[in-house]
Amino acid sequence: MLISNQLQDIYNWLLISLKTDEAKREAIIILKAIADINPHQLFTEKDFLLSSQQIKKIQETVKLRNEKHIPLAYLLEEAYFLDLELFVNNTVLIPRPETELLVTETLKKIKEDRLRQISILDLCTGSGCIALAMKRALPSANVYASDISKDALNVALINASKYKQDINFILGDYLDPFLSQQRSPVALPIIRSSPPYFDVVISNPPYIPESDYISLAAELMHEPKHALVGFPYAHIREQLKGLIKPNGFFAFEFGYEQTPKILEIFPKAVIHKDLAGIDRFAFVSEEDL
Ligand SMILES: C[S@@+](CC[C@H](N)C(=O)[O-])C[C@H]1O[C@@H](n2cnc3c(N)ncnc32)[C@H](O)[C@@H]1O
Repeated sequence: MLISNQLQDIYNWLLISLKTDEAKREAIIILKAIADINPHQLFTEKDFLLSSQQIKKIQETVKLRNEKHIPLAYLLEEAYFLDLELFVNNTVLIPRPETELLVTETLKKIKEDRLRQISILDLCTGSGCIALAMKRALPSANVYASDISKDALNVALINASKYKQDINFILGDYLDPFLSQQRSPVALPIIRSSPPYFDVVISNPPYIPESDYISLAAELMHEPKHALVGFPYAHIREQLKGLIKPNGFFAFEFGYEQTPKILEIFPKAVIHKDLAGIDRFAFVSEEDL
């Protein structure tokens, strides 16, 4: 007698139904998020039965994914960043693998530079992915995270609570909250002391040119425009002077083919490539700002 394996059938259905370039990866993510099935179980648990609600949710997810091109992370309200499983919604950018590299290389540099008991600002925090990864790697650090979007800060706060990490969230336009003449309404110890406040400022700011926006892939259009479009590096550089401590540095991500423009603003920036071999992030020491 042939006994059908429901889990395998659903997995195979996902593979043929998902109209994306990454059907296999997405099928595994969907099964994990909706039915808590890991890839190992997929091939070993022959008797696993999904509930009718789970099957319905899987079908609805595939429909929205195919018809509206809504990113899977928004449909499932979760995204992965290094070892973190983060809550996301369409008020925040979905964390990207390039940014994971920015974080791991920044941590490496902090270690090489022998910086200890440091104060870190994640400028433009979005989901809080950078701040959270930094705080988990460096528990004794004072971590601040800022963004102009209240909704984004709410998402970041949910993620910090999920991982029980003590991060100071600040609402404001780039570095305005930290400049003495424009104090944040939030009373933070750092604001009450005097600058420079930070050993490390790390940021993945919006960096897509406005002229490129209309030609972006359909999926990107679901992400907040203010998280994508911009090029605030010259403004950030002006604001940063006096906020970073001696021996500290600014670490930041930037866009495809933007190296010449970045070097115009930060002539002594040390440029790093991403895993695809594309210039993607840079370090600028405090004295070179
Ligand atoms: C590219 S997203 C980065 C989010 C997150 N750090 C990450 O790497 O996934 C840029 C973030 O900058 C924020 N942002 C845009 N304009 C800003 C401004 N004027 N001041 C502060 N944050 C701003 C957006 O709300 C968005 O969350």
